[in-house]
Amino acid sequence: MGDRIKVIMDCDPGIDDGIALAYAAAHQDELELLAITTFAGNATIDKVTKNALELADFYGLKVPVAKGQERPLVKEPLHAEEFHGETGLGHCVLPETKKELASDNAVLFIRDILNDLPEGEQVTVIETAPMTNLALLLRIFPEVKEKIRQIVFMGGAAKGGNITPAAEFNIYADPEAAKIVFSSGIPLVMCGLDATLKCNLTRNQIMKLCQSGNPVAKACGDMVGYVLGNPTKYRCVASIHDAVPFMYLLHPEFFKTEKALLDVDCSEGAGRGATLCDFRWWLHEEDEMKDIILTDADTGNFQQELFESIYSVSGCRAAK
Ligand code: RIB
Ligand code: CA
Repeated sequence: MGDRIKVIMDCDPGIDDGIALAYAAAHQDELELLAITTFAGNATIDKVTKNALELADFYGLKVPVAKGQERPLVKEPLHAEEFHGETGLGHCVLPETKKELASDNAVLFIRDILNDLPEGEQVTVIETAPMTNLALLLRIFPEVKEKIRQIVFMGGAAKGGNITPAAEFNIYADPEAAKIVFSSGIPLVMCGLDATLKCNLTRNQIMKLCQSGNPVAKACGDMVGYVLGNPTKYRCVASIHDAVPFMYLLHPEFFKTEKALLDVDCSEGAGRGATLCDFRWWLHEEDEMKDIILTDADTGNFQQELFESIYSVSGCRAAK
């Protein structure tokens, strides 16, 4: 295998996190997943961590899983079980796993991985949850910054929100953590709602997954089919937000991007959790405008690439 992209994924599975992991499992020739760490975003830390262990084992990912923080830096925990169901994976019931946690302290686990990297090597962090684990890592161990090539995160929006009119869930759940990450100086790629709302699977595609004899396709169908349970809310498509950071790494041509200076509203007002994208290039130096904002996505390419990748996951445990 050529030089694979070294990746650490911080996540909160979560239906779309679960499908993003299927995409990663389908592309292990290009992506070297070094660790999966969890945060209590979509559901409690025990639920998201159990889901991460079962998903990794089911997809045949020989990747360590470490448990992260169970609450945001400042505010009370905010979960999204109305969107992800009681287990966090919709209607999907995965085989029980014997896979054990590599660590119950994700921050220390990531620090050790980064410190053990050969000289000159770097990791891409894919963040598909609120940024609490990352913020603590960067505050407690700032020296690891040089080991992180970029942070490609699903979160925020240049315009609008989903959990409030102004804010997207991952950022809204811990805006103080996002503030720490955004001001770290590490290059950021924001896969926000401007792009991810166009990265969906149609009702027909989901029905095909649900009726498939392929165990990974069936599992993904049972996950995302839950989202379609409320068609009045979803207009018959389901965004697979968290697959976008992985797909951006392998197919940047599917997306439109602009450079900006990224900030976040940590006030207590109606704008709390809003990501502020300063596109005013004429006011800032070239190197200040270091953050890449995904402003659009090619829905057809996304749907075909994700759909085909789901069917190509080969290491599935259930298939044995
Ligand atoms: O707003 C969408 C994001 O919030 C996704 O990461 C989803 O999993 C939820 O965590
Ligand atoms: Ca998520």
